[in-house]
Amino acid sequence: MKCNTYYGDHIFYDDMNKAIQTEDITFYNKYLKNNMRALEVACGTGRLSKEIYEHVNEYIGLDYSTDMLEIAKTKNRNVQYIWGDMRNLEKEKLGMFDIIICGFNSLQHLKNDEDIDNFLKSCDNVLRNKGLLIIDIFNPDMRFLNIKEIKEYRYSFYSEYYKDNIDLYEIRKYDKTTRINYLTNIYVNEKLNVNIESNTFMRQYFPGQLEELINKSNFSIKEKIGDYNYNEFNLQSPKQIFILQKSDGK
Ligand SMILES: C[S@@+](CC[C@H](N)C(=O)[O-])C[C@H]1O[C@@H](n2cnc3c(N)ncnc32)[C@H](O)[C@@H]1O
Repeated sequence: MKCNTYYGDHIFYDDMNKAIQTEDITFYNKYLKNNMRALEVACGTGRLSKEIYEHVNEYIGLDYSTDMLEIAKTKNRNVQYIWGDMRNLEKEKLGMFDIIICGFNSLQHLKNDEDIDNFLKSCDNVLRNKGLLIIDIFNPDMRFLNIKEIKEYRYSFYSEYYKDNIDLYEIRKYDKTTRINYLTNIYVNEKLNVNIESNTFMRQYFPGQLEELINKSNFSIKEKIGDYNYNEFNLQSPKQIFILQKSDGK
């Protein structure tokens, strides 16, 4: 099954992130070598692609949304992009890798422990022994986890598509039982009659919870970092960035 509109707001994705999210673009360089074969899962619009493929021997970007991949292909014409599900990476189709990157909270789009388990097994399947798997997720921030639904203005950004500013509002509601934060982004420009809604969700992992699932897998935690400046993780860190290593196969 191909998913065309995982993000209904793919036309805004790069513009809205340009305004708030750039620090992670060079973060991965430290872990890349020019003889590596690298896979970026959930690569989206290829926001991180250029910086990764310039530092390795071969790079493949994979995503579940054909809309996001279309944008990536237009931006990075020499890059190989493949449609696929990070819970089911096929060795026969993709080959083997030295490093897999799952950046910018993408893992939080998997709904439950079974999905995470499948993701870890699937990465194990296409990663060479001692290969690296890097996962970047949020450290949950209670200010954004409202049990009652709330609507909030977030920020404005310039849209290349509409050639004007767009105001972004967010509706959030957190389900404590499943730890899923349901999010609706609303993009507004009254002058141009723009009012677009897009729904998504992000599962939250409190410190220790992803570790529990990783400990049952074929990966060990080499490092846990708390931000894009490589500071060690602590409970106040904005991020949880896991540098995992596949076992040596012995
Ligand atoms: C927050 S975006 C991140 C995109 C990109 N990595 C970046 O840094 O901008 C999350 C991406 O995860 C993709 N995604 C969600 N579930 C997926 C799955 N099961 N397999 C592959 N991609 C998936 C979505 O299509 C979306 O492009």
